[in-house]
Amino acid sequence: MPLLELSGIHARYGEMAALQGVDLDLSEGETLALAGANGAGKTTLMRLLCGLMPPSRGEVRVAGICLPPGDPRAAAAAGLALVPEGRLLFDSLSVEENLMIGAGARAGRWSLKAIYDLFPVLRDKRTQPPGSLSGGQQQMVAIGRALAANPAILLCDEISLGLSPLVTREVYEALKSVQREGIALIVVDQDVSRAQAISDRVACMFQGRLTLTGPAATTTPQAMKAAFFGDAA
Ligand SMILES: Nc1ncnc2c1ncn2[C@@H]1O[C@H](COP(=O)(O)OP(=O)(O)OP(=O)(O)O)[C@@H](O)[C@H]1O
Ligand SMILES: [Mg+2]
Repeated sequence: MPLLELSGIHARYGEMAALQGVDLDLSEGETLALAGANGAGKTTLMRLLCGLMPPSRGEVRVAGICLPPGDPRAAAAAGLALVPEGRLLFDSLSVEENLMIGAGARAGRWSLKAIYDLFPVLRDKRTQPPGSLSGGQQQMVAIGRALAANPAILLCDEISLGLSPLVTREVYEALKSVQREGIALIVVDQDVSRAQAISDRVACMFQGRLTLTGPAATTTPQAMKAAFFGDAA
């Protein structure tokens, strides 16, 4: 049985159909690179998986159990955690308080110590507001906050947005550590090939539908490009 199963997922913003029948499976410990042009529905899909918006039709199952729609608490308890586009940290709180926001959803190995071991630089900055950190360090806080919930599936939206190549490499090294813990990942990155390089599978969306899924190792840039513009491979 797949860890995560989406069947016939639709979602709307008022009249606007943002997702139009998405079927997708993810196995335990698997990494999926999710691609698609601006407005394809990637962020909507991730927000829906975390219970931040309900589907208008369709079901999400984790380990065979149907998630109640639009229930962030239930999604977190089932093991879904989001590293959101733009990070969305709280600047009125310290780094450590931001990390603690994620804690308590589930039991597991991601204590503050484990998060600081993964991102040692955050230990030194733990009493500071996140706004005083570099973009890369802020992304580490956002990843750490999600890990504090001890997810089985980590959803990373626009993971390298605004980061230098050097810091992007650091963030990807951290994602590899997360993979070694057996956590499944869905990664959205503007640079699809970078996400593809750490993935088992790739998926591409166009106008709220999946136009391609395939093995990361053998899916060509040409096939990705075609799917990007809506042509099924
Ligand atoms: N809050 C909102 N209200 C109304 N429409 C929205 C809202 N958020 C997204 N949309 C629309 O839903 C569709 C899917 O948007 P979404 O943000 O999921 O795409 P995306 O693939 O993440 O794009 P990007 O690459 O730009 O981040 C788009 O047409 C977008 O304009
Ligand atoms: Mg987006």
